[in-house]
Amino acid sequence: MRFLVTGGAGFIGSAFVRMLAARPDAHVVNIDKLTYAGNPENLAGIEQGERYRFLHGDICDAKLVNAAIEEARPDAIVHFAAESHVDRSILSPEPVFETNLRGTLTLLEAARLKKVPRFLHVSTDEVYGSIESPHEADENYPLRASSPYSASKAGSDLLALSYFVTYKLAVTVTRASNNYGPHQFPEKLIPLMISNAMEDKPLPIYGDGMQIRDWLYVDDHCRAILAAIERGKPGEIYNIGGSRALPNIEVVCKILAALGKPQSLMQAVKDRPGHDRRYALSSEKLMRETGWKPEMPFEQGLQATIDWYRANSAWVARVKSGEYLHYYEQNYSGRAI
Ligand code: NAD
Ligand code: DAU
Repeated sequence: MRFLVTGGAGFIGSAFVRMLAARPDAHVVNIDKLTYAGNPENLAGIEQGERYRFLHGDICDAKLVNAAIEEARPDAIVHFAAESHVDRSILSPEPVFETNLRGTLTLLEAARLKKVPRFLHVSTDEVYGSIESPHEADENYPLRASSPYSASKAGSDLLALSYFVTYKLAVTVTRASNNYGPHQFPEKLIPLMISNAMEDKPLPIYGDGMQIRDWLYVDDHCRAILAAIERGKPGEIYNIGGSRALPNIEVVCKILAALGKPQSLMQAVKDRPGHDRRYALSSEKLMRETGWKPEMPFEQGLQATIDWYRANSAWVARVKSGEYLHYYEQNYSGRAI
């Protein structure tokens, strides 16, 4: 199969590209703007050649996107590229709307005009907003986005699905829960807590730390995306949950215990504005229709993730410099309570 992947130098996109690189029948063209979150080191060892091409560019650039489709002649576009961090979207919503909405529109338009056979739009459980216990969101649950990030994803989901209804473009939308694993940018909870604890720095806990997230190992997510392309239906939405819902504070305690660090490193900070209390998904539809299920037990995946960050301290040090320090200061300074 031939793929055009967007955002393939980021956390999940690079895991997807690595997965495809291990399949001798897959051809991949990867468009990535290399924002702060995009890192060519995530793709180290994947050689440019007949089976893999990297194109440095912006998905909002229609000329580049059209040229990429001509070069890739894809059977499927798999669209990961996004501004993906909620806190950054609160500090600065404009780039989020530019990439997540205009970028998605640019890709959809190019895919329609060039008659690309499949389009997989990678989305998130955040579009459903906070879910009251004991309920779970299925794919028909109302959209109730809380942050500029989640609103942009909900908007891009609707845009993508409209291309199926109006133009018969074979769009599928997947909505995944919180991912974790190697190569994740240390602005997100798990890599931030691991890397701060490794440096004996404070671990900022938003509010009471009892917010609940459903953790999905990144490779399980990538297998689910492939299952949705190969065995899912166009025009449909598929939730992808990790089946491991935990309060943040429990996740952080597990990290501290695994690293042999004291709980006193945790520091309560002022809560995130509009913070969703609980995410909970039903992935029953994807499991029933494709046979996919999450395979990585959380404790094992967390240990593998911690091991990766320990073994890649040079990667962590390079990433936690420059722009990162500015962001960290902007998001966390004066916030301790
Ligand atoms: P990430 O921030 O690690 O990577 C995003 C990638 O997109 C980077 O490589 C960046 O350079 C690239 N990019 C950003 N703007 C671009 C543009 N205008 N043109 C081209 N490339 C651009 O993100 P991630 O965590 O890997 O998330 C990937 C996708 O999965 C996103 O669509 C996100 O909404 C979705 N998602 C993420 C999670 C999660 O827990 N991380 C969960 C569910 C869904
Ligand atoms: O649910 C899927 C979403 O998961 C994805 O769509 C997003 O791209 C991804 O960033 C993630 O969003 P969250 O906001 O849930 O992830 P984050 O890692 O930022 O935060 C997870 C939880 O941890 C959340 O309740 C906020 C809390 N948190 C986060 C940070 C960065 C803290 O308590 N302290 C922190 O410093």
